[in-house]
Amino acid sequence: MVTLEAINEDNFADILDLTADTALVAPNSYSLAEAYTALKEVQDGKIPAEYALQPFAVKCGDEYMGFAMIGLEDGEDVNAGSEIYWLSRLMIDDKHQRKGYGKQVMTALIEYIKSKPHGRKVDYFYTSVVPDGKGGAEKFYKAFGFENMGIKWGDEDLMKLTL
Ligand SMILES: CC(C)(COP(=O)(O)OP(=O)(O)OC[C@H]1O[C@@H](n2cnc3c(N)ncnc32)[C@H](O)[C@@H]1OP(=O)(O)O)[C@@H](O)C(=O)NCCC(=O)NCCS
Repeated sequence: MVTLEAINEDNFADILDLTADTALVAPNSYSLAEAYTALKEVQDGKIPAEYALQPFAVKCGDEYMGFAMIGLEDGEDVNAGSEIYWLSRLMIDDKHQRKGYGKQVMTALIEYIKSKPHGRKVDYFYTSVVPDGKGGAEKFYKAFGFENMGIKWGDEDLMKLTL
């Protein structure tokens, strides 16, 4: 059973050691730098504190095996018409893929969002996936009810889950 731990001084080094295909997902070092820059935007008053990215370490037993990062956003970039959660990153370490951990992480993230961590209901969970020619990640997200919106997000495909 996986648990999600906020990234902190005790677990960040373990998360930096994890690897997955960088053609499909950014390295965890990049993601943590992104989380840092979002905090800086909060400090500079450019975004509200509640829009800071939330990076999570994925742990099973005593072992760290993945990383996930979500953020609350105003939804304007995707014309959602309301606030959204955005799944910025999800990776399971190479040696632990296809064992059901990713599925557990998504279930935990959706449960977390539905628990109204920012004190209000948010109706949409967005992400974007790198088209890998085999539809691997798309298939993964569709199993949770995400729809492919048929819109490009940079080089990626935009996907949306109505919560
Ligand atoms: C995509 C990822 C997060 C899925 O996590 P995981 O633990 O490997 O996936 P699970 O074992 O929970 O898979 C659940 C189901 O998703 C689908 N799936 C997952 N990865 C898949 C892949 N590469 N190709 C095809 N289907 C895939 C399958 O239907 C799978 O069920 P099955 O193994 O019974 O066929 C993980 O493989 C990963 O980190 N991959 C590299 C980075 C990446 O692509 N991240 C997504 C960013 S868009």
